[in-house]
Amino acid sequence: MSGRSRVAVTRRLPAAVEEQLAGEFDAQLNRDDRPLETAGLQQALRTADGLLCTVTDRINAEVLAVEPLRARILANFGVGFNHIDLAVAQTRGLVVTNTPEVLTEDTADDAVMLMLMVARRAGEGEREVRAGAWTGVVGELGATARPSVDDVVRDADFVSLHCPATPETRHLIDARRLKLMKPGAFLINTARGDVVDEQALVAALKARTIAGAGLDVYEREPAMSPELLTMENVVLLPHLGSATQETRVAMGMRAIENLKAFFSGAPPRDRVA
Ligand code: 8YV
Repeated sequence: MSGRSRVAVTRRLPAAVEEQLAGEFDAQLNRDDRPLETAGLQQALRTADGLLCTVTDRINAEVLAVEPLRARILANFGVGFNHIDLAVAQTRGLVVTNTPEVLTEDTADDAVMLMLMVARRAGEGEREVRAGAWTGVVGELGATARPSVDDVVRDADFVSLHCPATPETRHLIDARRLKLMKPGAFLINTARGDVVDEQALVAALKARTIAGAGLDVYEREPAMSPELLTMENVVLLPHLGSATQETRVAMGMRAIENLKAFFSGAPPRDRVA
């Protein structure tokens, strides 16, 4: 039996990250990449010293109520941590870390890509080409900033969301703010789904009170409002803001850095709770 810390990893990670994990820790890898449900997450928290988790893991009060709790750190693979009940994690004595910075550039690319795709109707155009019905495309582009959210949504050609999901930002873009948007404006969301009231967005898109939306995230992902799938004025991506090999490796290495610091008794660089 080695004295190495045991780390349970909830999903498959890039090979370089899994290799490093296996070298540094007694790593329990999820080779099947099947998401762990409540019981699986609880089993991991009962048997490992640390959990390397990600956005698909609902680390809620029920999961965290596990007894006996062996884990002492939740090292999240991802910058957003709204899937973790931080208050309960803290009361259970768990340190929580994330992986900021290394995915900022990719997520910015994703937002700009959605802006261009929705404004230039690239998704619609590609569907036309694939359907053998190629006829043509149109578009517009522009961006600026204002002191309040209401001012931004009133003036912007593109309203691009880049805030974390917190109780304060839930439905930040609601029916009222969607009404403030210009009829020619586009909503871009690469942040978190529940920053937007998805039903209100569907209504605005249907009524054409805004020109369109580029979405990488959804309120109940991977589920989405079925109406969105039938609309031509939206571009829909499957939460791939950070999905480049380079960034996923950087995120994994950052989570490992946090785990190593923690288990060596040093403060982890990216502690969020
Ligand atoms: C995912 C993200 O977590 O980091 C975040 O907050 O939204 C994404 O990067 C990541 O893709 C993990 O699967």
